[in-house]
Amino acid sequence: MRSNAPIGVLDSGVGGLSVLKVLHQMLPQENFIYVGDTARTPYGSRSEAEIREFVEEIISWLEGQGVKQVVIACNTLTMLGIDSLQKEHPFELIGMSKGEKLLLAASKQKKIGVFATQFTISTEAHKKAILAADASAEVYPMACPKFVPLIEGEQFESPLIQEAVSEYAAPLKEAGIDALILSCTHYPFIKDVVEAEFGTRVTVIDPAEATALLAKEALEKNNLLNDEAEGSVTICCTADLARVKRLAARMLPAETCQFKEISLTKL
Ligand code: DGL
Repeated sequence: MRSNAPIGVLDSGVGGLSVLKVLHQMLPQENFIYVGDTARTPYGSRSEAEIREFVEEIISWLEGQGVKQVVIACNTLTMLGIDSLQKEHPFELIGMSKGEKLLLAASKQKKIGVFATQFTISTEAHKKAILAADASAEVYPMACPKFVPLIEGEQFESPLIQEAVSEYAAPLKEAGIDALILSCTHYPFIKDVVEAEFGTRVTVIDPAEATALLAKEALEKNNLLNDEAEGSVTICCTADLARVKRLAARMLPAETCQFKEISLTKL
């Protein structure tokens, strides 16, 4: 494995760009290849069998690009179990952090909210991780199926985002949470709306930085950090290149990135 090989980053769509942003800031010398399956997003309301088939296609495609590590920049896919996705791949897979330590450090009342996709919430993984770290905590999970289509659809100026945020926030505000995790990588695109809805007494946590640290530590451990010249970012998607470019510009210096439309399914 060469240390100047690229790092693969993947998501069902543009959400993982919020993680790529942090990875690129933390590891500016690395070469990143991002894959967003924009032709088939959202994944969060699909069956486990279908999601598994899609992610295996993406990982195999990235293997063909000679990657040295793959960051699963998607909570829904991380829920499938990193070990089960690892298979015989010659590189390490890194999943999204569940952020339980950050949440417990931020929450005085130990009343914690979780915003995520239907699939992620159905696994109860975040609730279990928080309770394993502190059994006295109260966890309020909320599936937010309206968010991903609105974000992928660039509805940032539409009142629909504010309406959906208010709808999903209401029971958590009622419960008196003081910390909330955005456990879907799409949600940082609307973090400002969520923060405004909850007000200053709720700390809103994005687990991207904790995840990027896990990726960095794994590279260090495996002696794979790139010490050559400046890195690069290539953003690939399976549909709607122009839309992906616009959304990427919300997260990254898009003028320095390369963009490509790719096909994952062999014809
Ligand atoms: N961005 C993804 C996540 O972190 C999935 C969104 C979706 O496809 O439903 O969960």
